[in-house]
Amino acid sequence: MSSETVTSTTTPAATPPAATTTTTTAVNLEQVAYFLVTGASRGIGAKMAIETARKFKAGSVVVLLARSASGLESTRAEILAVNPHVTVVTSSVDLATASKELLNEILDKSLGKQPTDRFGLACVIHNVGTVGNIGRKATDLDDRTEWEQYFGTNVFTVAVLNSCFLRKFQSVPGKLVINITSKACLVPFQSMTYYCAGKAAREMYFRVLAEEEAAAGVTVLNYSPGPVDTDMTVDLQANSNAPEIRDYFKGLRDTTTILTTDQTTAKFLHILQNGLFKSGDHVDYYDH
Ligand SMILES: NC(=O)c1ccc[n+]([C@@H]2O[C@H](COP(=O)([O-])OP(=O)(O)OC[C@H]3O[C@@H](n4cnc5c(N)ncnc54)[C@H](OP(=O)(O)O)[C@@H]3O)[C@@H](O)[C@H]2O)c1
Repeated sequence: MSSETVTSTTTPAATPPAATTTTTTAVNLEQVAYFLVTGASRGIGAKMAIETARKFKAGSVVVLLARSASGLESTRAEILAVNPHVTVVTSSVDLATASKELLNEILDKSLGKQPTDRFGLACVIHNVGTVGNIGRKATDLDDRTEWEQYFGTNVFTVAVLNSCFLRKFQSVPGKLVINITSKACLVPFQSMTYYCAGKAAREMYFRVLAEEEAAAGVTVLNYSPGPVDTDMTVDLQANSNAPEIRDYFKGLRDTTTILTTDQTTAKFLHILQNGLFKSGDHVDYYDH
């Protein structure tokens, strides 16, 4: 990094500067948008895709990624039921190993001949996430391939896709990047080494992005959805090697205080549309 770059951005190890901009982060979703969601075949990603796409103007393009073609198809049908004026493109892809070339090809195919400057908003939700091996403690995670697989899905491909996306949509006036994060990026939870380490690395990537791209009109939100009733938390409740984790999710389910995908998606849209964050912030479901 050149010294010139360092002096013009946040100085490492210094006290973080106060926000330098007073521009609102409120997002108007009622426009012609290009919208990409990863992990859109089920759970939080599917619900966010449906409820966000519901608001877009005619001519918007919605792109859904995950491995399950049938899951993607069902999300696609639900989007078209609430907003028949958008085009929905699905792409069945394993994000653990997807190359830059493949990701660029998916973006290009979804656009066809449309120029990117016909969109008022380009928005990506990096929702894909896996919990990893929750049957072993940190001290037992000695399989490098397993580490690479985990970080491939949850960090490396997220960063590469984000790079491809922002390069492609440079000319779009509104650029919005959402990272679905977790309290686990701030707090260590037993049995969740991969998850906590991956979420921490991933969120820091997006915080740096927010600093670097503020002047380029990129808005970044790290949204932490709270504990939600999805396959991921069913897995944690059944398979975590830590009794505290199993009991925590059992307690939430027994008392029906675990959140629904509807609840967390409604809160996400409220935060987004009212600009209840500064670019780069970590905002939790329970913050508002
Ligand atoms: N549930 C919670 O309580 C909670 C709390 C905090 C944060 N989060 C975060 O919210 C996000 C969504 O979680 P969720 O609970 O909705 O999880 P989920 O129900 O397990 O869904 C995960 C999604 O990611 C996709 N996915 C997983 N591996 C993939 C791969 N290799 N390639 C492509 N797609 C892949 C899955 O689709 P396919 O299987 O079809 O590929 C699915 O659509 C995650 O980032 C998670 O960390 C969840």
